[in-house]
Amino acid sequence: SAKYIPYKVKDISLAEWGRKEILLAEAEMPGLMALREEFGPSQPLKGARIAGCLHMTIQTAVLIETLTSLGADVTWSSCNIFSTQDHAAAAIAAAGIPVYAWKGMTEEEFDWCIEQTIFFGEDRQPLNMILDDGGDLTNMVLDHYPELVSGIRGLSEETTTGVHRLYERMKNGTLPMPAINVNDSVTKSKFDNKYGCKESLVDAIRRATDVMMAGKVAAVAGYGDVGKGSAASLRGAGARVIISEIDPICALQAAMDGFAVKKMADAVKEADIIVTATGNKDIISAEHFKSMKDKAIVCNIGHFDNEIDMAWLNKNYGSTKNVIKPQVDLYDLDGKQIIVLAEGRLVNLGCATGHPSFVMSNSFTNQTLAQLELWENHENYKPGVYVLPKHLDEKVAALHLSKLGVELDTLSSDQAEYIGVEVQGPYKPEYYRY
Ligand code: NAI
Repeated sequence: SAKYIPYKVKDISLAEWGRKEILLAEAEMPGLMALREEFGPSQPLKGARIAGCLHMTIQTAVLIETLTSLGADVTWSSCNIFSTQDHAAAAIAAAGIPVYAWKGMTEEEFDWCIEQTIFFGEDRQPLNMILDDGGDLTNMVLDHYPELVSGIRGLSEETTTGVHRLYERMKNGTLPMPAINVNDSVTKSKFDNKYGCKESLVDAIRRATDVMMAGKVAAVAGYGDVGKGSAASLRGAGARVIISEIDPICALQAAMDGFAVKKMADAVKEADIIVTATGNKDIISAEHFKSMKDKAIVCNIGHFDNEIDMAWLNKNYGSTKNVIKPQVDLYDLDGKQIIVLAEGRLVNLGCATGHPSFVMSNSFTNQTLAQLELWENHENYKPGVYVLPKHLDEKVAALHLSKLGVELDTLSSDQAEYIGVEVQGPYKPEYYRY
């Protein structure tokens, strides 16, 4: 455990601006603020040393300060080299929270930042909780610091790709602690992945390129939660959208939502904008690049950059790369120009500011509840992957209704009995899909 470095950010003088935006975000994050009110006085996270690795944005700052206001010590890094908002990181550092994150770091710096979060303070106490987005912190701890595992009560994971890695570990027998899959709370994946991308995808393409969206042809690979939000985003801006899928159920959903569904090999030929949203690899490869139109815009909104074969592009045409501005690169493929956003990394965080506060409040209220559950009740859990119980999922939603002026009807006990639920919920069986 190396020497203690209190924080590393791009520019600490941005803290005041960051603080102003954090205050505005708090007003849009009623779930997190309600948890501060409910649990702040009893300090249930006292003694918890939570290392977090999740996009260091303004919204994440509100999550971090919710965890500290519940009594936790927290250290933080960002889970993507481009996703940090430097004013958010500065505000967190100025609040005395060890944060190691800046926009536009190298991959070596990325690993260095995660490593700084593992030991806390001058006396180098090891983390005892993990809060992760994508699994890079989890992998670092489990693969390189196995001696710390026995002191860790559990981990919570934010995203589809990270959850996928956890289930792999479970299958291989390499998951030594309980993990809460936050992504599959209904109030996470059916909101953040969908409504979040619906706002943040077009925002990113516009900030990066200022291209006219209406009338353009856009191709979206994947019609899962992120794909549904992404397709809706593009359609909302007036683009004509084509979906590619490998799952017949999602392909049928796309068709019945009114989208054309084609093989990517065909869709790329007519697309002005190409977006990958699969969480899979090699979606856009050499053949696809070769059949693209001149000035096609290519980007990825899935967690990792291997959805687009950037390695092939850089190996063969890296010498033609022309940086228009940070995170917007023009490549020349034998006379045809291709615009690549955020070097193929998740575009909404690389070229815009990620999802809006309100939807992230839903995700992060789940995160906070997951940390509370594992910290307080870890002895009830064997190593494995769990989702939060449905009554907590419903609680997260309930905390976000009044901000929107939503008023719920209530069941009579007669009605509740008729449909076989309790008056106070949960209202749906586990197998219900929303
Ligand atoms: P999902 O599993 O709901 O959807 C992925 C879809 O891609 C599935 O329907 C699958 O059938 C399809 N697919 C897989 N291989 C394909 C191929 N070769 N061609 C066409 N379609 C294919 O997953 P979800 O939740 O939509 O997440 C997708 C990715 O986005 C993950 O990496 C996740 O971690 C990430 N994510 C990114 C966010 C952001 O803000 N940028 C927010 C939430 C998730």
